Amino acid sequence: MDIPLDRLQDPEADVRLVPFEENHVAALAAVFQDAPTLRFYLPSLARPFSEAQLRGLLADWHDMTTDFVFTIVHGGKVAGLCNLSGVDWVNRSAEIGVALLPDGPRGKGVARAAVRLLLGFSFREAGLHRIMARIQDGNDASTRLFEALGFRREGALRDAVRRSGGWRALNVLSLLEDEYRP
Ligand SMILES: CC(C)(COP(=O)(O)OP(=O)(O)OC[C@H]1O[C@@H](n2cnc3c(N)ncnc32)[C@H](O)[C@@H]1OP(=O)(O)O)[C@@H](O)C(=O)NCCC(=O)NCCS
Repeated sequence: MDIPLDRLQDPEADVRLVPFEENHVAALAAVFQDAPTLRFYLPSLARPFSEAQLRGLLADWHDMTTDFVFTIVHGGKVAGLCNLSGVDWVNRSAEIGVALLPDGPRGKGVARAAVRLLLGFSFREAGLHRIMARIQDGNDASTRLFEALGFRREGALRDAVRRSGGWRALNVLSLLEDEYRP
């Protein structure tokens, strides 16, 4: 599938998405080495990755078939990453995720602009119908971000994540193609 780079930018927010490339690994490593960020971003894989491990993980992950990983660039600098994962082409659905660098431009609308661009790609270019976000209970920033973009809460996967000897629910939110507002 062609990825239209010119449509993956929001000049007003100074945010663009670039399909993952190996030379982004060094800048993105902070996401995968910061426990609080990682624990929210990858609920099932919350252990720090070395740069070498990460190179393999991201290259495999970004297969451009069922999984797409985009680097978020803000002000010309790598700010984080977002992903469209587990694309089910039969049912035209996928899961979305986003993480900013721990010392990145958080709380400034950068993640929102990035997710909005990825939603545009998902519904327009990829022709998907349903996008799901699974958000750990207590991840208020992520909940606000997705709700502000129109995602609706469907329910909770109870005790779906094991953390520090306890359990956390994963809230399931979704956005359908006719609910998407560019
Ligand atoms: C989730 C994440 C990407 C949000 O980034 P962000 O820069 O705060 O996002 P935005 O600036 O676009 O806005 C998010 C909203 O949450 C609010 N917010 C930000 N931090 C918050 C916090 N700690 N508690 C409550 N609300 C928060 C923002 O004010 C904004 O809401 P508003 O528009 O009503 O003011 C970022 O916190 C992150 O990388 N977290 C770690 C990884 C993660 O949780 N990923 C999501 C997995 S589903």
